[in-house]
Amino acid sequence: MWIKDGPSLMITAENLTKRYGRNLSPALKDVSFQIDDGEIVGFAGLNGSGKTTTLRIISGIIVPTSGSVKIDGNDIVREKIAASSNLAIVPELPNFDITQKAIPLLRYYAGFYGMQREEANQRIETLLKNFGIWEYRNRKLRTYSQGMKKRFAIASALLSDPKNILFDETLNGLDPEGVRNIRNLMLEQKKQGKAVFLSSHILSELQNIADRVIIIKKGSIVKILDRSDIPNLGASSIRIMVSNPDSKINEILEQYGTVQQSGSEIQITDLKVSSEKAKLLNGELAKSGYIVTKYDLSGEGLEEYFLSLVRDSYE
Ligand SMILES: Nc1ncnc2c1ncn2[C@@H]1O[C@H](COP(=O)(O)OP(=O)(O)OP(=O)(O)O)[C@@H](O)[C@H]1O
Ligand SMILES: [Mg+2]
Repeated sequence: MWIKDGPSLMITAENLTKRYGRNLSPALKDVSFQIDDGEIVGFAGLNGSGKTTTLRIISGIIVPTSGSVKIDGNDIVREKIAASSNLAIVPELPNFDITQKAIPLLRYYAGFYGMQREEANQRIETLLKNFGIWEYRNRKLRTYSQGMKKRFAIASALLSDPKNILFDETLNGLDPEGVRNIRNLMLEQKKQGKAVFLSSHILSELQNIADRVIIIKKGSIVKILDRSDIPNLGASSIRIMVSNPDSKINEILEQYGTVQQSGSEIQITDLKVSSEKAKLLNGELAKSGYIVTKYDLSGEGLEEYFLSLVRDSYE
């Protein structure tokens, strides 16, 4: 895969292959991609497809069998300190010491980043307040709910204000308010020019947030979707019957896609709109005085589309 060169590149993964054991089939096979500054890239795949393996290789927790990763131009294996200095990962499963309380643990982490005590205290207070953990600061992390642990993990990843952030299944397990907050946070990071990489096993979770979505199946990239592609996936055509069509009906229909009309039967293909929007056509026609006697939206939903890409053909 073509990798462009240049100073603005934040994360580059080139030909990553990972074998966990000589007799095991590779968990990753020749995976290459890049994440630019100010870009949010989604990483979608089923359980066991290699998402966590990729994120762990990028963050330098494990080494690839072959291939390389560069963070701001620094190799994560050979120039580990420089590469890691601007990188953080929010792991799939919390990996912090749950016998601790939030503030002392974050102060301990701040020590690694060489933060001054006052600066650290201020940043910790702001983060804990932003993530709704401040009121629980006197409780041990062990007593936190799953979502609170996740919030804490995100807060600790952001402590050093890293330029590159990896989120492994972070939206999964959060309540709707948490999902909204984290989405906003990611958009905020993007605005600041940071590179964000976010894995998920649900494609729709990445919709409206990721600029691109890389889809992985059994360790190989099978597709890279652009943000603008995603709303149109799933639905493929609308068939309607209108008992009183006239010459003006096309003004409405053409907003939805390519119109083919034969008498009262109309088919719209190459949809320009999302499945959600397509469902509104019926109402829009009725409002304009048309009598719709049949309405069929055919095609698959976004998740069915995703499954058709990633599931095994024999299933
Ligand atoms: N430490 C390990 N030793 C051996 N095999 C491993 C190890 N870690 C992961 N694997 C295997 O590598 C493959 C990819 O696993 P990985 O955890 O990267 O998937 P994932 O996409 O993150 O899945 P999930 O959605 O379940 O988190 C799987 O087949 C898994 O069994
Ligand atoms: Mg995983």
